[in-house]
Amino acid sequence: MSVPEQTRAVLESLRGVWDEEDVDELDHALQAAAQAIADGADDGLVLAAALHDIGHSPLLATESDTHDRVARAWLTPRFGARVGWLAGAHVAAKRHLVATEPGYADGLSAVSVASLRAQGGAAVDPAMTGHPWWPDALRLRRYDDAAKDPAARGADIETVIAVAHRVAAARMQP
Ligand SMILES: [Fe+2]
Repeated sequence: MSVPEQTRAVLESLRGVWDEEDVDELDHALQAAAQAIADGADDGLVLAAALHDIGHSPLLATESDTHDRVARAWLTPRFGARVGWLAGAHVAAKRHLVATEPGYADGLSAVSVASLRAQGGAAVDPAMTGHPWWPDALRLRRYDDAAKDPAARGADIETVIAVAHRVAAARMQP
């Protein structure tokens, strides 16, 4: 199965998976992609936004690893280090914004607040904040937080698969 078709299978496996209360994980993924596109994000960031929570997929979830690490491990060999890193940074970005931005935590969903505790709470990690991709990780986190609206329309799944094709093809070029 090609990488874009694997991506489709993983995305479709998120239908009916409920982590948040208001949207299932497929709607969450497609809304995050729509947020990124509306923000003018590049293909890699759009793809990372769409796929940041694939660690909740029944195809990929493991008992022993956290969902951000699962996403990074699946994405990196398929779409490159940046897409994997950005998706894998979405928990660190939440912990950072809780620590540094007054009022940020008030806008988090109840599920996100509850998981924050298990994730270690507010924290600033210099190894992350000094990384050149960190500003994009913060952008992704905003898309994530805004992608939990039961009334919102997400990106079309075909739009996300087209982005996956482009990112995968770009990696093949010398
Ligand atoms: Fe998310």
